[in-house]
Amino acid sequence: MRIVVVGSGGREHAICDTLAEEGHQVVAAPGNPGIAARAEVTTEPVETLDADLFIVGPEAPLVDGLADRLRAEGKLVFGPGRDGAMLEGSKHFMKQVAAEAGLPTAAFAAFEEKAAAFRYLESLAPPYVVKTDGLAAGKGVLVTEDLEEAKADVVAKLSGSAFGDAGRRVIIEEGMVGPEVSLLAVVDGRRAVALRPAADHKRLLDGDRGPNTGGMGAYSPVPFFGADLEARAMAEIVEPAVARLVEMGIDYRGVLYAGLMLTSAGPKLVEFNVRFGDPEAQVVLPALGAGLGEFLAQAAEGDMGEPPAIRHAAAATVVMAAPGYPEAPRTGGVISGVDTAALRGVKVFHAGTRRGPSGELLVAGGRVLSVTGFAEQMEDALARAYSAISTIHFEGAQYRSDIGARVLSAPRPPQKA
Ligand code: AMP
Ligand code: GLY
Repeated sequence: MRIVVVGSGGREHAICDTLAEEGHQVVAAPGNPGIAARAEVTTEPVETLDADLFIVGPEAPLVDGLADRLRAEGKLVFGPGRDGAMLEGSKHFMKQVAAEAGLPTAAFAAFEEKAAAFRYLESLAPPYVVKTDGLAAGKGVLVTEDLEEAKADVVAKLSGSAFGDAGRRVIIEEGMVGPEVSLLAVVDGRRAVALRPAADHKRLLDGDRGPNTGGMGAYSPVPFFGADLEARAMAEIVEPAVARLVEMGIDYRGVLYAGLMLTSAGPKLVEFNVRFGDPEAQVVLPALGAGLGEFLAQAAEGDMGEPPAIRHAAAATVVMAAPGYPEAPRTGGVISGVDTAALRGVKVFHAGTRRGPSGELLVAGGRVLSVTGFAEQMEDALARAYSAISTIHFEGAQYRSDIGARVLSAPRPPQKA
């Protein structure tokens, strides 16, 4: 097939690479230097391109209605229309659907005004959770034990100074506690099929400290989320959500990503995303055997079969981020060592990179590279990823040294910063 992949991050590199490996002709719009090494890239508007299948990577164009515009032209699209994408585009809408479908999730309220928000915060027990209603690239969420910090964050968000219009309505939630799992389901309008679960690391620093980010690393499978818990999460969260979408007349074809927290009372929904996770896609998709393109095309057509079988028993990715990420990433630094890092069992997915005037690779975004190892054992997948990272350099690179540590028996020695 000729497949257009929309987007330019690590997730899109993983999608393109997996599809190219199974022999499809891949065109990325706009892509990135890593994708350009093995697929065509174009800056032409997506609506002007032709393909057997369009896969929309990021949430912003989905919320903006790109899938609707392509479908109106008769194109086959993997990715929900604007109506379904609002599950991610508005946390308030997501919470409404969750309530109507009876999904287990945190209690919440939405506020556009400070005094009422403060009163609600004061009625809750820590941790306090303050979110922007609109899209904020995974960074609009504060989780804190400190009531004063939560209040200050409400003020910053409502004033528009922190996230512009995305923050003018805030959502305050009951704090949930437990390990998190990303359950990515492929939906064909009627049915949902789970891909292998992954776990993400949202905080910037080792030990889950520091600010929330888009994701600093991921691994798959997730040993503390076994088949029984997965079945429960599908039955209690993903399937009722899809049934509710059907009732609402929303023809959802794409990924429904359930961010779950495994609380003492069972899996609870933290959020829905309407696309593959980033960096979860980097550990989920390349670990599949051939057949991803056909499978996604079937889902887009409204009648999917089973997902491809698993090829790599374990996968782990470590994100290298720019200095200053997530608040104020500093771009422009020169990246070296990427080519030598591409050892056996490792894929270096580009996220925020660009080519400089003489072809050198430069830092061009907050998350720069997603260095991914594959192996039979998680220990080895992680060791491969970290060994590749030790050969890559750019000024001020930040990465966590404890990706996957909680699922390993023996801790790894500390890594250089
Ligand atoms: P979100 O963008 O909604 O996924 O939130 C980002 C991260 O904030 C989540 O992955 C959790 O780590 C944390 N978080 C969000 N909502 C809650 C909550 N209600 N309780 C505890 N942590 C939360
Ligand atoms: N890694 C979290 C996300 O994609 O939203």
